[in-house]
Amino acid sequence: MATSVDAPASPAAVDPLDVSRPELYRDDCWQEPFARLRAEAPVYRCEHSDFGPYWSVSTYRPIVEIESLPDIYSSEAGGIVLADVEPEADVKLPMFIAMDRPKHTGQRRTVAPAFTPSEMARMSADIRRRTAEILDELPVGKGFDWVDRVSIELTTQMLAILFDFPWEDRRKLTFWSDWAGDIELVKTPELRQQRLEHMFECGAYFQNLWNRKIGKEPTPDLISMMIHSNAMSHMDQYEFLGNLILLIVGGNDTTRNSMSAYAWGLNQYPDERAKLEANPDLIPNAVSEIIRWQTPLAHMRRTATQDAELMGQHIREGDKLALWYISANRDESVFGPDADRIVVDRPNARRHLSFGHGIHRCVGARLAELQVGILLEEMAKRRLRVNVTGEPTRVAACFVHGYRSLPAELSRY
Ligand code: HEM
Repeated sequence: MATSVDAPASPAAVDPLDVSRPELYRDDCWQEPFARLRAEAPVYRCEHSDFGPYWSVSTYRPIVEIESLPDIYSSEAGGIVLADVEPEADVKLPMFIAMDRPKHTGQRRTVAPAFTPSEMARMSADIRRRTAEILDELPVGKGFDWVDRVSIELTTQMLAILFDFPWEDRRKLTFWSDWAGDIELVKTPELRQQRLEHMFECGAYFQNLWNRKIGKEPTPDLISMMIHSNAMSHMDQYEFLGNLILLIVGGNDTTRNSMSAYAWGLNQYPDERAKLEANPDLIPNAVSEIIRWQTPLAHMRRTATQDAELMGQHIREGDKLALWYISANRDESVFGPDADRIVVDRPNARRHLSFGHGIHRCVGARLAELQVGILLEEMAKRRLRVNVTGEPTRVAACFVHGYRSLPAELSRY
């Protein structure tokens, strides 16, 4: 259970439609309140929550509208998670996901070349080789933790390559990512302090890597790209750290939880798993479907910079809005009455909002799809199936939506 400094005075004070409560995700019972919100109040003002008052936006159309109007709904004014940055208690770490135009544009352009189709083609043989190695080391018919042995290992290796990070230290990336991505950890001053210390440790480590690349020929890794760019080469230490954390969390927790969702999700729907096993050509669509079904980041936040109308609701300047991708991806009017299920050949799986929409749409989406796709392909080549042998442990948070552990066993089909 997450700690909270502002626990409501009485149970009556809990709003059953406050979908920011961490236990909903820990216990996997977020579906029902979101179904109600979509049906009854797709733009709903939640007055009382641990994060203060906020608007819950839970259907597809208003989320797309908000993300198409970045001047009205700012990523910078209040950041991208429901938790507010407290100026006196926090050090502000600027990162371009939480910047508005024009600064956002320049910084995004700097890292975008790391994710072009030609870069993906260049990286794919390497990703395939590493995936194969990991799978070939797994026991068949014997229990292990899928999250640790497959999801974390694959995504951490990928990040180490993207940053040209010392191989033997790569689990530090996982550690920092876990601390950075868990917004429950900002709820007490002690945890805030501990988190900040880890973030600075991360910054110091990367500063060292940066210093070693200064004055050297450009190499195809993200640190070298930042050093040789106009938009990012003069970042101060906070901005440098902020953007590093963005890339570490962005690339780590999300793809990791898609890989875990593949194992857990297909185990829930054996008929769909059989369909996929019989027809590996469905893999690209199944990847989108798994990312839709899981929604590895449950929400992003926006803050209104002026008064606005949204589906008949009056939004005031300064209001915060949670864009619940996790709910929009279950929107019956877009994905039909079976939106809660995985359907590996769902015709419009690619319309999901797990990567967001508009100018901030995930810059690493292609890489995430490539990694998950290769995992599925290599599993299919070996005719390997994941059988889940117990309940997963889930992350108790309303931002990163995923799994801490997943007991599993492999069999051949
Ligand atoms: C932005 C999700 C993988 C790096 C985002 C956003 C979402 C998201 C929801 C914000 C969109 C918005 O505000 O409209 C995901 C999911 C992933 C994934 C679900 C995996 C399945 C990755 C990877 C990387 C990455 C592999 C890099 C290694 C970023 C960055 C941004 C971003 C840098 C900021 C883009 C901007 O502000 O312009 N991602 N992401 N993500 N993601 Fe991802």
